[in-house]
Amino acid sequence: MSTHIGAAPGEIAPIVLFPGDPLRAKWIAENFLDDAQLYTEVRGMLGFTGTWNGHHVSVQGSGMGQPSMSIYANELFDSYDVQTIVRVGSCGGLTERVGMRDIIIANGACTDSGINRTRFHGLDYAPVADFSLLRAAVEASEALSLQDRTHVGLLYSSDQFYTTRPELTEPLVAHGALAVEMETSALYTLAAYRQRRALSICTVSDHLVTHEETTSQEREQTFGDMIEIALRAATA
Ligand code: ADE
Repeated sequence: MSTHIGAAPGEIAPIVLFPGDPLRAKWIAENFLDDAQLYTEVRGMLGFTGTWNGHHVSVQGSGMGQPSMSIYANELFDSYDVQTIVRVGSCGGLTERVGMRDIIIANGACTDSGINRTRFHGLDYAPVADFSLLRAAVEASEALSLQDRTHVGLLYSSDQFYTTRPELTEPLVAHGALAVEMETSALYTLAAYRQRRALSICTVSDHLVTHEETTSQEREQTFGDMIEIALRAATA
């Protein structure tokens, strides 16, 4: 049992889907996994293990933001020997190049966070996705005929959901950032350090340019498409 995850060794699969919201973890377990068993509810951060197409797969809530996500990712890698983590989250569109409910497969992540600045003594590290997962996710999107609303590009992992300076993202967008979320930069960094595989896939749930928002019903449908891509990629 680790500090924040109440699972015995062996209860967590080598492949983990990693939504921010613990109730999304429950929804994924109930709708996509067979024989899903709850292995942790410490702090309400639910985790389940089941099977998908014969593969053992776990789904673990990460909480919001890089500090919370990092606690769970570190423990999954170090205490449970997890090999593959696929974050399945939501993001806010930063450019009209992406539309509402589009799916973004993150090849890399920028950040305003001090976490990596501290970790790399002020040097700029480039957190990138695992290429085998990235390629498998693109192939899964095509196989599911979702390529017209799937993008491969940069996410911006911000420490602040509410910001007083939205214009600060303009240079990032000019250099290719597609959407904002709050976890991917640290996830890619931790996976690289532990030599494990990580990928972030996010659905655009709100748009900072057009100011659109999705209904909860729309979020559920598009979230399901993203989960299908994530499961296929992680088990390919
Ligand atoms: N996740 C979903 N929408 C977001 C936004 N607008 N900012 C940060 N994270 C998000």
